[in-house]
Amino acid sequence: MKAKITLLPGDGIGPEVTAAAQEVLEKIAEKFGHEFEMDSQHIGGIAIDETGVPLPNETLDACRGADAVLLGAVGGPKWDDPNASVRPEQGLLGLRKELGLFANLRPVQPHPQLMGASPLKESRLAGTDMLILRELTGGIYFGQPSEKHVNANGEEEALDTLIYSEHEIVRIAKLAFEIAAERRKKVTSIDKANVLESSRLWRKTVTKVAADYPNVELEYLLIDAATMHLLSRPSDFDVMVTMNLFGDIITDEASMLTGSMGNMPSAALGEDLNSLGKPRGMYEPIHGSAPDIAGKGIANPIGTILSAAMLLRHSLGLSSEAEAIEKAVDAVLNQGHRTGDIAKEGEIRLGTAEMTEKIIQAL
Ligand code: IPM
Ligand code: MN
Repeated sequence: MKAKITLLPGDGIGPEVTAAAQEVLEKIAEKFGHEFEMDSQHIGGIAIDETGVPLPNETLDACRGADAVLLGAVGGPKWDDPNASVRPEQGLLGLRKELGLFANLRPVQPHPQLMGASPLKESRLAGTDMLILRELTGGIYFGQPSEKHVNANGEEEALDTLIYSEHEIVRIAKLAFEIAAERRKKVTSIDKANVLESSRLWRKTVTKVAADYPNVELEYLLIDAATMHLLSRPSDFDVMVTMNLFGDIITDEASMLTGSMGNMPSAALGEDLNSLGKPRGMYEPIHGSAPDIAGKGIANPIGTILSAAMLLRHSLGLSSEAEAIEKAVDAVLNQGHRTGDIAKEGEIRLGTAEMTEKIIQAL
């Protein structure tokens, strides 16, 4: 098959891990007889440097014309001035919004060989296999007004708006139940309904949607309790669904169940279909640009490589190819190969390119 993939390497370690995933995709194309047309575009800090804006029109147009998008990471200290009028993160948020990618799938599956890399005891981690579904185009990330001004007392003040409308909750809740129905049939909805009005609407709406899925169990947790239960009983969860900000926070916490953020992939999907009749998704590791290790060639490429596998599965309908990548990553971890973030003391630490090479060999 033929498919168009737009690569957005971005900042920090983004270009290194994106190059790794690109090599893996090239290998898949060769092995399975596909043609992937991959072009790279700027986003984030590098886009600000090159064009003055974090999401140039050219980038947006390329993404709209692609069957799927693979992104590395955005941001870094160079663009962190709190007074700056443009920020790298606006590029990523703008793209999510413009492409209507309201559903962020973040699977959390600790690898048996990496249990020792997690700060949690193996006995607690055993059996953990969850999918965190984060609402991605609403909530406090996008609510208006969001601004800073001088108040009546002559003091600076700033505000953000947390707003959810019913349809935004319905579509993400439906997806949570659909996915859970194909898994272990349990949805945990996370909110702060004891304090926030928007969370009470969230809970009420999720409850309504649940009525259409009598075979799926529904549980509610408040976000504060959820952060605790995630550590005390991670294997109890199947699909967790939550709003944008809570999902951002809890997925970083959940990544430590896998030993490192570097291992975790994600997919952002919406309603738009690509030229293949599949969702035009954006795929990215959940980790950031890691400026402290950028350019050193030591970043863990697994999160991005597994994101490429999700891309093949969800946007190109290539499940065997996706599985081939997942199996190759499994095999390499089983062989004991580790990047620095997941290595134990005394273990050999492979660089990004070496780890990628091992995965390609396993393919
Ligand atoms: C993520 C990131 C982004 C977010 C940042 C870079 C804007 O942390 O994808 O989780 O907050 O969504
Ligand atoms: Mn995050």
